[in-house]
Amino acid sequence: MAIRPIICIPDPRLRLVSEPVAAIDDEVRALMDDMLATMYEAPGIGLAAIQIAVPRRVVVMDVAGKDDPPAPMVFVNPEITWSSEETNVHEEGCLSIPDYYEEVTRPAKVRARFLDRDGKQREIEADGLLATCLQHEIDHLNGVLFIDHLSRLKRERAIKRFTKAAAMRGEEGM
Ligand code: NI
Repeated sequence: MAIRPIICIPDPRLRLVSEPVAAIDDEVRALMDDMLATMYEAPGIGLAAIQIAVPRRVVVMDVAGKDDPPAPMVFVNPEITWSSEETNVHEEGCLSIPDYYEEVTRPAKVRARFLDRDGKQREIEADGLLATCLQHEIDHLNGVLFIDHLSRLKRERAIKRFTKAAAMRGEEGM
């Protein structure tokens, strides 16, 4: 298991649409392990493969409470198959947009289809934090960030702030 560097905005790779995983082999399982190690180290409750610069449709999450035992979850090729009309507002953050938090409105409940660690087809029904996190991570696989759900003004302000910081570090902007 290795902790891998997390890429941050304005890195253009965060806008890539990730490729489906054709088969879950040892290489994919090693990727999942690295992603979990990276997520726990950050620390965070969800991570998509593109956040460690791997454009494949793999997500890891752990939404267990602070005092509960770890509950790692992996989702391969996850797809939302149903979302509720009812919405929910949740404050979101992202390991690729450090120290920035905003309230986001999303469907309160979703159902998703995915492959598990063993390549078995599964379905999950989620609400609360699990639903929010799952939608946030699946967005990453489509090159969508949580700031895209904010008003244009807020989004542009956030991007500007991180682009400026990257320029000060001498990194290339978008
Ligand atoms: Ni994120």
